[in-house]
Amino acid sequence: MQSRASISGRTAITVILAHPVAHVRTPQAMNAHFDALGFDAVMVPLHVLPEDLAQVVAALRRMRNLSGIVVTVPHKEAIAALCDELTEEARQVGAVNVIRRDADGRLTGGQFDGEGFVAGLRSAGHEVAGRAIFMAGAGGAAAGLAFAFARHGARRLTIHNRTAAKAEALAARVRAAYPACDTRTGGPDPSGHDVVVNATSLGMKDGDALPLDVTRLAPPMLAAEVIMAPEVTPFLAEAAQRGCATHGGKPMLAAQIALLARFMGAG
Ligand SMILES: NC(=O)c1ccc[n+]([C@@H]2O[C@H](COP(=O)([O-])OP(=O)(O)OC[C@H]3O[C@@H](n4cnc5c(N)ncnc54)[C@H](OP(=O)(O)O)[C@@H]3O)[C@@H](O)[C@H]2O)c1
Repeated sequence: MQSRASISGRTAITVILAHPVAHVRTPQAMNAHFDALGFDAVMVPLHVLPEDLAQVVAALRRMRNLSGIVVTVPHKEAIAALCDELTEEARQVGAVNVIRRDADGRLTGGQFDGEGFVAGLRSAGHEVAGRAIFMAGAGGAAAGLAFAFARHGARRLTIHNRTAAKAEALAARVRAAYPACDTRTGGPDPSGHDVVVNATSLGMKDGDALPLDVTRLAPPMLAAEVIMAPEVTPFLAEAAQRGCATHGGKPMLAAQIALLARFMGAG
């Protein structure tokens, strides 16, 4: 690990905006990535309240050695309106998780949750193209995943969510963008799908309900998770007990680090 004493006036600065901020894992992973590449850059966590976001972004825009901004909860949607330009992925999802700052202060917002998830699956040898995918969840992370599944050629996507109207709305947006993917909403039964994904926050806390009907999980289904901690959620434990292959939430972050760094022009 490089020493912080190597930070100099030439070091490219990147930041992550969050509230709260103590739990974020991206700075450690991003700084390790910069070290591994021998890239003279650093990522620093900034604790920013929602009511201060616009003022902070206006100030960051004027910082001439700032390469980029990683964005996490609760700022991903609000910050999209503060960018000068959005990538197609960010526009589709309606949320930004990284911003590139150009030399003239122009801010371009990107969205890599879905790309990171698909790249994480691929890093473990799992393909999305041609597969039937069942996804629980219709929140911010789920929206990124849904568009990425369709973009990468999923044959069918079924979205199940506690608030059914959010699942309907997301499915309609994905269908409009990618008509070739048969996107619909469904109940909690994942039967008939190749890949079953938990994209809700259920499983982070002790006593959380299961995100879908796990009694219907059976080989050769792959059960995949967005939650990073605990590493084995109750959903993944139930899937493994029924003989399904499993894929945890960590590869999604690991795959995103390189994508985010490249987007910021830092690595
Ligand atoms: N691995 C990674 O790199 C990575 C990256 C991003 C996010 N994540 C993880 O993804 C998860 C979701 O984040 P998010 O930003 O999408 O959150 P979000 O926008 O708040 O969405 C939460 C989702 O969980 C559902 N949900 C929450 N509580 C529920 C309950 N008690 N019963 C049924 N459904 C419930 C919500 O359903 P309703 O719509 O009905 O409320 C919604 O679908 C988090 O655990 C986050 O840590 C991981």
